[in-house]
Amino acid sequence: MRLLSGIKPSGDLHIGNYFGSIKQWVDLLNSSSDTQAIFFIADLHAITVYQDPKKLKEKTYEIAAVYFAAGLDYKKHIVFVQSDNPDHPYLNWLLTTVTPYGWLTRMTQFKDKRQKLKNYGEVIGAGLFNYPVLMAADILLYDADSVPVGEDQVQHVELTRDIAKRFNKLYGETFKIPEYTVNRTVARIKDLQYPTKKMSKSDDNPLGCVYLLDSIDDIRLKFKRAVTDSEKSIRYDVKNKPGISNLLAILSASTGKKIEDLEKEYAGKTYAQFKEDVAEAVIAVIKPLQQRVKEYLSDRSELERLFKLGVEKAREISTPKLNEALSKMGFYKYAKK
Ligand code: TRP
Repeated sequence: MRLLSGIKPSGDLHIGNYFGSIKQWVDLLNSSSDTQAIFFIADLHAITVYQDPKKLKEKTYEIAAVYFAAGLDYKKHIVFVQSDNPDHPYLNWLLTTVTPYGWLTRMTQFKDKRQKLKNYGEVIGAGLFNYPVLMAADILLYDADSVPVGEDQVQHVELTRDIAKRFNKLYGETFKIPEYTVNRTVARIKDLQYPTKKMSKSDDNPLGCVYLLDSIDDIRLKFKRAVTDSEKSIRYDVKNKPGISNLLAILSASTGKKIEDLEKEYAGKTYAQFKEDVAEAVIAVIKPLQQRVKEYLSDRSELERLFKLGVEKAREISTPKLNEALSKMGFYKYAKK
């Protein structure tokens, strides 16, 4: 069983990413014996909207450091940086030629992003339009069985399946048709200021979002200021008490205790005490994580060694696949005599 996923090195990771996705993913992968994960930092994807060059580089190291610090076993799995593997943009080009223009115009994420950029008066690059085809290349190069994604990426995996089918039909059986699984828990952790909105790294209100690398003081402050309600009861009721429910979800994620048990434990306690405890529970998890992230970040050459190791393993799979596609399409050097 081969899982594949990518994450863009743009924006800062927050506790919603950590508890909702990173931690669960890492725990699942390290504990399952028959699953290999291919996981890459999607830096070629990040530049579909302008990235400050210095930040792109820093975020690439940072995201990798967070995953290694979270315990992702790089010996068992394959972790690499997308731009280290030229097979991705190469296959991207080949797949572009079998992707009908109309399919791309239907991508809702493109339509949303285009609208946003327009509102800000910014240019819409052709890369943003073609981006789902690069994602298809990422996936198809590795014969991935399954792609765990957020809700917003489902349409892109469906497109990947269609592109693979079309290629296979035109040039002969080449690519495996991937399945996907949707990670819904990410959405469960909400913004601390607007608790009906999911916590988001591109947040306009920094008080609502607790970043993984926030200072301990900032984490305490953000929980202290978290929006609650005018009642006095600590119970899980997303509809009427979104703030308290969100804090319960966060406390549950960081302590491993069930929400029902927490409701009992906090019966009769004040919101102030509760918020303080949530902050301390999060800090108890985040502080040692930050320490490990710092260790990785202080040794760039070690991170680069891991990147090199990762891309070598990745290319053992992706290069033969790319060559097979080139051969099927008739490129002289690869085509059978
Ligand atoms: N497009 C994904 C996102 O924005 C990141 C990504 C790039 C990805 N390539 C992928 C995810 C391949 C899964 C598989 O979050």
